[in-house]
Amino acid sequence: MSHIRNIVILTGAGVSAESGIDTFRGGGGLWEQHRVEDVATPEAFARDPELVLRFYDMRRAAIQTKEPNAAHRALARLEREWPKKAPGAQVLIVTQNVDDLHERGGALDVLHMHGEHLNAWCNACDARSRWTGPLLHRPPCPACGKAALRPDIVWFGEIPYRMEDIYQALGAADLFVSIGTSGAVYPAAGFVRTARELGLQTLELNLERSQGSAWFHESRLGPATEIVPAWVDELLG
Ligand code: APR
Repeated sequence: MSHIRNIVILTGAGVSAESGIDTFRGGGGLWEQHRVEDVATPEAFARDPELVLRFYDMRRAAIQTKEPNAAHRALARLEREWPKKAPGAQVLIVTQNVDDLHERGGALDVLHMHGEHLNAWCNACDARSRWTGPLLHRPPCPACGKAALRPDIVWFGEIPYRMEDIYQALGAADLFVSIGTSGAVYPAAGFVRTARELGLQTLELNLERSQGSAWFHESRLGPATEIVPAWVDELLG
């Protein structure tokens, strides 16, 4: 690991599972309780906005009752301490998660490629506003006053955010680490392949082998609250 400087970390729902936030797939996952087509596509929002807004109001309220766990805190520590160990080196956390537990765990530079529950996005003026309450009653946009707010979530069929920044970071990185994701959803599921093509070291930290496990140099299996702090301790020495 001596030549490792810049690190890109991709996280998924598994990193927040032990904080009590449902994952999407697997036993009791969110997509077992709700049909994606009913709540997580632009077509669903056009067809039945109340159903969609109610679904995200429930999720937005729920995440505010949850606390970051040892995995979130360990990644924040790595972000803080790694540049002291490797001056000028960068740690970028790219998350598919729409909760704010990385930030509440202390991380500063988190790239939310699938959006954030605690933002509302105005379809009229394109402004994004910090939002902790419901959207079901169609409140006015704080910027333009129009009742055109939607959850700031990247739905299926929509393009994830800041893809250029992510590929640029991969291009400048030495190590790619994937934590708590099933590798079921692209483009995130393709990052490991890009990382391999760019010659990066690759590591998977997950409860079970993901769909992309074969692409990783190394896979460590176990609960995030155990294997992530252990990996961070190892890296920081
Ligand atoms: N510790 C580590 N990994 C865990 C834990 C845990 N405590 N619990 C579950 N996992 C792992 C599972 O083994 C699984 O591989 O986390 C992964 C969660 O997978 P998904 O539920 O598919 O979630 P994710 O990969 O983040 O989904 C990707 O799909 O639905 C869309 O936009 C949504 O961002 C989401 C994307």
